Amino acid sequence: TGYVTLDSGYKNTGATKSAITFLDGEEGILRYRGYPIEQLAEKSSFLEVAYLLIYGALPTQSEFDSFRHQITQHTLIHEDIRKILDGFPSSAHPMGILSSLVCSLTAFYPKSIAPEISKEELNLNIVRLMAKISTIAAWSYKNSVGHPLIYPRNDLDYCANFLYMMFSFPTEKYEINPVVVSALNKLLILHADHEQNCSTSTVRLVGSANASLYGSVSAGINALWGPLHGGANQEVVEMLEAIQADGGNTQKWVDKAKDKNDSFRLMGFGHRVYKNFDPRAKIIKKAADEVLNALGINDPLLKIAGELEQAALTDPYFVERKLYPNVDFYSGIIYRALGIPTEMFTVLFAMGRLPGWIAQWKEMRENKEPIGRPRQIYTGELQRDYQEISAR
Ligand code: CMC
Repeated sequence: TGYVTLDSGYKNTGATKSAITFLDGEEGILRYRGYPIEQLAEKSSFLEVAYLLIYGALPTQSEFDSFRHQITQHTLIHEDIRKILDGFPSSAHPMGILSSLVCSLTAFYPKSIAPEISKEELNLNIVRLMAKISTIAAWSYKNSVGHPLIYPRNDLDYCANFLYMMFSFPTEKYEINPVVVSALNKLLILHADHEQNCSTSTVRLVGSANASLYGSVSAGINALWGPLHGGANQEVVEMLEAIQADGGNTQKWVDKAKDKNDSFRLMGFGHRVYKNFDPRAKIIKKAADEVLNALGINDPLLKIAGELEQAALTDPYFVERKLYPNVDFYSGIIYRALGIPTEMFTVLFAMGRLPGWIAQWKEMRENKEPIGRPRQIYTGELQRDYQEISAR
């Protein structure tokens, strides 16, 4: 009924009020709960930022200790979930495994589906999800390479434990490299929330039907997998590798991206909201240099990325359309330096984005928002009479 405004892709439609993340695309400002992303990336840890996003304030020492302790206590996953994992082929993309196993948590914790869950039960779901996602993520990788699964170690902090489950073997002693742990913390912080992006809107929309937190987040993971969204970080590195194999002619690839008869886009470039620069890309570019230096790695893809960026930034096509490198442009270079395989890049993005999805889902429920249900403008046949199949 009434008047419907069409806004494809919701370019100018606000779907909610939110007190979580402030983003100014013209000025390149990003703040979580009021704190500038630059300060958080420099000084905080991923778990502290997760607490901030989900509960609205930086934790006191005892609040933080309790949050961290609870998460540590829930890193094990049910052995029957392991059996589900065993059923996946080793060729399965880890994002498919991640979304499936996160969704399977609804079956193992059925109370999470009740529309009215207590505050305690909700907190338990939050803690479980934060804890188990890192085990599921690491195991999805182990599955893809056919290596034995490594169980979590509760004496390690969040990022170190994830790296341990990813890279250690039962036969060898695993040395944790603090440079790698700190880089991972920074990357996860930078991805932790980004207001009403595609996957977050998905989480809110699914959750608005009173669906469970696990089911809503699983839907968000699938949205994030798309190459126009989080899947871009994998695509960036694959693009840089293709440019390298093609002789390193970056101008040729910039021209290809400009060609309207070619569907190719420069991956890691452009953003719906940022029109001058993406503050996350600035931090990541600097971090990429630092991490590669600290680890003594000389990655030729970093040079190609720099040349490609320069070629695009000085090209009128990209200038006129205000297309700048986004968060995904340099993150893959760091992931590579940390030894993370390309297929795992988007999984890392999902781990980082999880506290944002949880915070947004929780806020929506607390604000008692109505079920999400966009309208449409119908363009089909007005009315027709049914004809028997023999008469068509
Ligand atoms: N390469 C070439 N042309 C581009 C690109 C690109 N990467 N991005 C946008 N354009 C052009 C587009 O063809 C259009 O041109 P015209 O006006 O001539 O039709 C114009 O710029 C505006 O683009 P749009 O598609 O209308 O912009 P949007 O806000 O709908 O899309 C975007 C934003 C991020 C989907 C898009 O810029 C894109 O596809 N980028 C490449 C994929 C990517 O890096 N995604 C990661 C986004 S940031 C992290 C995340 O969300 O996960």
